[in-house]
Amino acid sequence: MNVLVLHGPNLNMTGFREPELYGKKPLVDIDSDLQEAAAKLGMSLRIFQSNHEGALIDQIQENRKWANAILINPGALTHYSYALRDALVSVRLPVVEVHLSNVHNREEFRHKSVISPITVGQIIGFGGTSYLLGLQALKALESVSP
Ligand code: DQA
Repeated sequence: MNVLVLHGPNLNMTGFREPELYGKKPLVDIDSDLQEAAAKLGMSLRIFQSNHEGALIDQIQENRKWANAILINPGALTHYSYALRDALVSVRLPVVEVHLSNVHNREEFRHKSVISPITVGQIIGFGGTSYLLGLQALKALESVSP
């Protein structure tokens, strides 16, 4: 199983920005944990972070034939990016949405995700572990899909 992992705007600052919300683990460490977990699960990952909506959309389109699934933390794009949502829909791949923080116990504008209605599910609030749980969820999906 090939999984495209996408990190949206500001996630490159993970470990340094608001560690009380997002944890102290830098994104490079989250990525290496993911690669290690993927190897054990027999999955291949391509991991990409961008602060730009269009660059994330380009990655979705460019990897549409390689990827079997997408694991994404869209950052603040979660709450308003119809363009990102449309790109995810267009490639017809299962999507799992993850967040480091529990967006529901934060500001009201974070309670809405325009992405979640088109995902298989969301995993939120577990810091970097949200990504690992998301990867496991995609693996589990592989065994239940027709
Ligand atoms: C986030 C939550 C978003 O609301 C926020 O804009 C982020 C990070 C998270 O992982 O908790 O950038 O996606």
